[in-house]
Amino acid sequence: MKKRVLSGIRANGRLHLGNYLGAIKGMLELQDNSDYETLYMVADLHTLTTPYDVEELRKNRREIIIDYLAAGLDHGKSILFQQSSNPYHIELAYLFSTVMTVAKMQHLPTFKEKVKQHPENVTIALLNYPVLMAADILVYKADSIPVGLDQEPHIEVVREIARRMNQDFGTYFPEPKRFKTPGQYVPSLLGEGKMSKSIEGSFINLIDDLATIKSKLAKAPTDSGLEGGNIPETGGVGNLFTLLKLFVDKEIFVKFVIDYREKRIRYSDMKQVLADAIFAELKPFQEKRKYFEENPDVVDQIIKDGNKKASEIARETVEEVKKKMGLL
Ligand code: TRP
Repeated sequence: MKKRVLSGIRANGRLHLGNYLGAIKGMLELQDNSDYETLYMVADLHTLTTPYDVEELRKNRREIIIDYLAAGLDHGKSILFQQSSNPYHIELAYLFSTVMTVAKMQHLPTFKEKVKQHPENVTIALLNYPVLMAADILVYKADSIPVGLDQEPHIEVVREIARRMNQDFGTYFPEPKRFKTPGQYVPSLLGEGKMSKSIEGSFINLIDDLATIKSKLAKAPTDSGLEGGNIPETGGVGNLFTLLKLFVDKEIFVKFVIDYREKRIRYSDMKQVLADAIFAELKPFQEKRKYFEENPDVVDQIIKDGNKKASEIARETVEEVKKKMGLL
C-alpha cells in the first residue's frame, strides 16, 4: 500500500511566501512522488481557534483551495479538500482527547504563544488544537507531513497520541514525521521572527505584484553596510540573506555575501535582485490562479470530489477506532 501524506494550512487569510516555501513546496514534491498518496486540506476548523471574521472565513476556505491549484497541486494526483466538510476529523479528535491530559496541552509552546497573543480567547478549542491536528493526520494514517518548522511541537503530540492509542486500544497508527523543505523557516521582513500572517508587514503574499514586493522589501530593516565580517544570523540583514539564499542562484548569493564582508554591500541592489527573483517565482502562480478564478464551476467540482474522497477514507479509520474503544 502507498504511504499517505497529509497537510493543511489554516484559512486565516491569503497564502504568503512562508506557506509556499514551508508547506506547499513539500506538498508538491510529495504529490509527484508515486510512492505516496497525498491529501491536502484547508484547515478551516483550526481557524476557529483564534478570533476570526465569519465572512472572511467563508471566502478563504475556498480561496486557499484555489491557491493550492494555482501553486500546482493537482486534483488528478492529490485529494484536495476542506477539513470541516469531513465530519470524521472532529469525531476522531473527540476520541483522541480522551487520552491527552490538559496539563500536557497547556505546556506546549505553541499554546502559550497563542495565549499571549489572545489572552481573551483561551478556549477549549484552542487547547484542543493539537488534538484536532492529530485527528487530521491519523484519520488517514498519514506518516509524512509537509509543514514548516514551527509545527514540530504539534507533530510531536501527534506521535504521542498515536503511541497512546496503540498502547491503550491496540490501534495501528503510524508515528508521523515532518517532511522538511529548504524553506521550512522563512524569516519575517521586519527583521525579527518568522514570516507570519498575523504580523502585519512581515510577509509577502503570493498574489503580490512586483511593485508591492519591492515596496515591502524596501521597508525591511538593514544596517549601515559597513559592518563587514560574517553575515549575522538574525536581525534584518540576516533575514534578507536567508531569503536571498532561498531565491537566487548560488553565484549571486555569494557575490552579495562577499560585498557584505568587504563593506561594500548596497542593500538597494540586493533588494532589487531579491524582489525580481521572488516575483519570477510567483508569476506562474498568479497566471494559473486567474484561470481558476474565471472558472468557479471547475473549482466547485474539484472541492466536491475531494471532500467525498477524503470522507470515504476517514470513515474506515473512525469505524475501526470506535470498535477498538467499545463503541461499536
Ligand atoms: N497547524 C497547521 C498550521 O498552522 C495547520 C494544520 C492543521 C495542519 N491541521 C494540520 C498541518 C494537519 C498539517 C497537518 O500551519
